[in-house]
Amino acid sequence: MKQKIRWGIIGLGNIAHSFVKDLALVEDAVISAVASRGAEKAKVFAEEYRVPLAFGSYEELLECEEVDVVYIATPHSLHANLSIMAMDLGKHVLCEKPLGMDKREVERMISSAKKNKVFLMEALWSRFNPAIRKVKSLVESGEIGNVTYLHADFAFYAMDRDLQGRVLNPKLGGGSLLDIGIYPIFLAYLLLGKPDEILSTSDFHTNGAEIQTSMIFKYPHTHAILYSGFNSKSEMTVQIAGEKGTIVIPNRWHQAQGYRINKENEEKVFNLPTHGKGYFYEIEEVHTCLAEGKIESDLWSHQNSLDLIGLMDTVRNQNGINFS
Ligand SMILES: NC(=O)c1ccc[n+]([C@@H]2O[C@H](COP(=O)([O-])OP(=O)(O)OC[C@H]3O[C@@H](n4cnc5c(N)ncnc54)[C@H](OP(=O)(O)O)[C@@H]3O)[C@@H](O)[C@H]2O)c1
Repeated sequence: MKQKIRWGIIGLGNIAHSFVKDLALVEDAVISAVASRGAEKAKVFAEEYRVPLAFGSYEELLECEEVDVVYIATPHSLHANLSIMAMDLGKHVLCEKPLGMDKREVERMISSAKKNKVFLMEALWSRFNPAIRKVKSLVESGEIGNVTYLHADFAFYAMDRDLQGRVLNPKLGGGSLLDIGIYPIFLAYLLLGKPDEILSTSDFHTNGAEIQTSMIFKYPHTHAILYSGFNSKSEMTVQIAGEKGTIVIPNRWHQAQGYRINKENEEKVFNLPTHGKGYFYEIEEVHTCLAEGKIESDLWSHQNSLDLIGLMDTVRNQNGINFS
């Protein structure tokens, strides 16, 4: 029998609950330990998901011998230090997006993976979504001809959230750009690469958090129109328009369950439902890479994470978005 890969989860908020359910769907994965800043919270989570070990501090989990891979699900501002602490203790790491707050942090994290010879990947789950992978291959094979226009938006209403919570608190990396703007930027980068030029503008909350950002990524023959926001709910769809046709990824595109192709006035619908919510695929990728002794994924490499944060740094700098 194949040896199971033992997972630990750090930071038991919303995403940890979704992730642990998909982890249960991966045959050779086992959840060994969870850690919270509060022992009681860890105990309750562990009871709900039948996790053998529950820790009241992150350090205890990182030092635990019964964990191979740590999934870091904390606010953005803690990603780099916790990942590096984990890797220095010999753990492999799957860290929630964005990998770090800026390029310098991501560089430090990648150095740590190399130094410790452990696996590190940004949990950019949409990269592994079957419909998005299919759309990428269709675009690359020229199915819709040269792409001239891409639209991707991601916005939901969050202005009523706690100003101390991770979504609206700049000190925790709050604001729409790093939280959800990362998805449209990721898609443009995945399908079109790095743009020649970025035009962008942002609005801010009275507490300094960035609450909406519009971006145009300019390529030699393509405009990508990207948007993220917390002050309204947008359609959350993707349109990729080429000279020979258009691909639409319907709402909510970042966890796509299929896509549509429109060519010569005929529309075809393709359903590609995910297994579980969709975290399943990034977990499988971690397992595949570990089995091959890799320290990074080919599908979402260290360089990909560096490029992505570099694009976000540019947008940040253009608009004075800061996290202090
Ligand atoms: N891939 C996706 O679909 C997806 C979706 C949502 C979020 N995310 C990412 O996942 C990460 C967590 O997001 P979330 O929505 O799960 O956030 P959340 O519900 O606020 O949970 C974050 C957890 O981090 C821990 N934490 C440590 N220090 C904290 C602090 N100073 N303030 C608040 N919490 C702190 C807390 O866990 P303990 O109390 O247990 O220590 C908290 O429950 C973020 O990086 C986010 O971008 C990804």
